[in-house]
Amino acid sequence: MRIAMIGGGYVGLVSAACFAEFGNQVSVVEIDPDRLAALRDGRIPIYEPGLDTLVADNARAGRLSFGSDIADAVTGAEAIFIAVGTPPRNGDGQADLTYVHQAARQIARAMGDYAVIVTKSTVPVGTSRRIAEIVRETRPDLDFDVASNPEFLREGSAIGDFMRPDRVIVGLDQTAPDGGARARAVLSALYRPLYLIEAPVLFMALETAELTKYASNSFLAMKISFINEMADLCDKVGANVHDLSRGMGLDGRIGRKFLHPGPGYGGSCFPKDTLALTRIAQEAGAPTRLIEATVGVNDARKVAMAGRIAAAGGGSVRGRRIAVLGLTFKPETDDMRESPSIPILVRLAEQGAELRAFDPVGMQAARPHLPPGITYCDSALDAARDADTLVVLTEWNEFRALAPNALAAAMRGRVIVDLRNIFDPAAMRAAGFHYHSVGRPI
Ligand code: UDX
Repeated sequence: MRIAMIGGGYVGLVSAACFAEFGNQVSVVEIDPDRLAALRDGRIPIYEPGLDTLVADNARAGRLSFGSDIADAVTGAEAIFIAVGTPPRNGDGQADLTYVHQAARQIARAMGDYAVIVTKSTVPVGTSRRIAEIVRETRPDLDFDVASNPEFLREGSAIGDFMRPDRVIVGLDQTAPDGGARARAVLSALYRPLYLIEAPVLFMALETAELTKYASNSFLAMKISFINEMADLCDKVGANVHDLSRGMGLDGRIGRKFLHPGPGYGGSCFPKDTLALTRIAQEAGAPTRLIEATVGVNDARKVAMAGRIAAAGGGSVRGRRIAVLGLTFKPETDDMRESPSIPILVRLAEQGAELRAFDPVGMQAARPHLPPGITYCDSALDAARDADTLVVLTEWNEFRALAPNALAAAMRGRVIVDLRNIFDPAAMRAAGFHYHSVGRPI
């Protein structure tokens, strides 16, 4: 099948490469000239394990190509995916649909034969129907359907998530004369390779598919905020949050995943999607108070972590040298969007701390987001050199392997604030550290 992918960002690029790997002919349209040049050169502008080889292999096999011309990509395509960005709009937190609507108009102008226009970007309820209207207004003669196919991949394990998803969600226009049957046939054919691994492909109404994405992400964000609050409670009452989370998670109705406490969730999806859901729900007159609370709890948590770091070191951070391990919002990515490290380091810098940071992959991406005056180091141990306090912000595997004695030898102080619970408390204490973690009281 011929596929056009409008947008070569995270979701667009991963989806395009995976659809090509399924044996389809995929043309990616990217308007940013630098990004396009990089992609054509085989340089992948994001850090995602395995993506470079997948792109290179499929480009070499002639199944994956990159261009800037929508008309070229759309000609002969049976499925046209919109995977452009939907950043939060300034002011109200609603998703900004400028790029989505623009893509719809450009597709309409370029389209010929029947195709399904599929939204992969996370968009508010009603957007797919609006896309259909825009296409109809632009070209009343066209034969097309719209579908919504939200993407659930996680950064850092994006390819595995795409190839072996828990489920695929497809929204169809069930009010169309054929009830969406023709679009359903196209999408079914596209996802046929997943039938082999018995991944469920669920067909539903357009609006339901759009809402399912927000509901899923918001639920996971709520789950994280829940365990974060439980961790704080564990600290106060002398309980251990890991035992608690295992004890809860083994109940099949709860599930073990996303019950790991930390400094608050970040990334390009959870903060944006939770906020957008609260706005959608308010406007619809059915406010989601649980998600409103989740947003507030998470924002407050990120800020509160700076206070926790200061308190662990005796109160004030002024003049204290703090080693910071990890800057990205999670490991295996160079993504800094909404990373908890940003509000935490802004506060520590304001309060006069001397900051030495190391991140295995995200250092370049981090600089523009962080306050000036931070020293960027070559390794974790380099960051730890003569530090009073060591703080873990992201759970990169290489930090887990750091020997307590090596840290003790490098540092001048003996305080560790491990906001991802990657170290063994007993081993750290044995090495002479005042070791603070999340929900595992001393
Ligand atoms: C997320 C969703 O998982 C994915 O389905 C959606 O399509 C996009 O958003 P991603 O942003 O890549 O994916 O990251 P994810 O691995 O889900 O982590 C999000 C944040 O939650 C990170 O900051 C992570 O550190 C935090 N987190 C996650 C926790 O603090 N505790 C957990 O138990 C799990």
